[in-house]
Amino acid sequence: MIVANDAELDGLSAAGRAVRAAFDAMKEEARPGISTAELDRIGAAVLAKRGALSAPQLFYDFPGATCISVNEEAAHGIPGERVLASGDMVNIDVSASLDGFVADMGESFMVGEGGDEQNRLIAAVQRAVYSAADGMRAGSSLNDIGRTVSQVARGEGFSIVENLGSHGLGRTLHEAPSYVPIDNPKERRRLQAGLVMTLEPFFATGARWVNEEDDGWTLTVPHGTLVAQFEHTFVIRDGQPPLILTAAGA
Ligand code: CO
Ligand code: CO
Repeated sequence: MIVANDAELDGLSAAGRAVRAAFDAMKEEARPGISTAELDRIGAAVLAKRGALSAPQLFYDFPGATCISVNEEAAHGIPGERVLASGDMVNIDVSASLDGFVADMGESFMVGEGGDEQNRLIAAVQRAVYSAADGMRAGSSLNDIGRTVSQVARGEGFSIVENLGSHGLGRTLHEAPSYVPIDNPKERRRLQAGLVMTLEPFFATGARWVNEEDDGWTLTVPHGTLVAQFEHTFVIRDGQPPLILTAAGA
């Protein structure tokens, strides 16, 4: 959506805060011994307390309130009996609708200590998002984002998953523009002031595609390889970097 007035911005900001609060509560409890179903219940309770509805449930009938993806799972992992262990890389992705406004965020992080490559992968994908976001403003192109994200990935020797996109949102979870944050000179679409959008690259140790598992949801990279995502919801502005609706302490 394109934000038209302060009331809409306030509504989106409240949705961003609800999503952030659920994510923070889940990350805090993501310790060895907890199951992903228990973590999901923690996130669901925070959303419910704020009157927010899980967007994956609302729009896609996803079998969980949040997506929790472990190790080779890149995205859309279904919360269940899987128990987290030290050394697991976990991705929690929370999106929700509050009073008709939708926000979306995700982050990969380590349970316990990470290895060098895991830590480097997580740091790289976060740096890519903040570097690209710094240049996002009315009039810049989607490929300005893709070029910056690609530069960071290339500099660290990581691949970018090409079949997982970033997207507009605001009224529903997935709106125009849908795009893959990778360098593509043919991508000439430009950003407009007020546009609500995510940037959520997936960096991997070699994989350029994710595959869907038999459960019909979980998207994975090949066993033994790593993947990490980082996502915020942004509002594009004129002449300055975007607002981050899902920032910590927003
Ligand atoms: Co998203
Ligand atoms: Co998300």
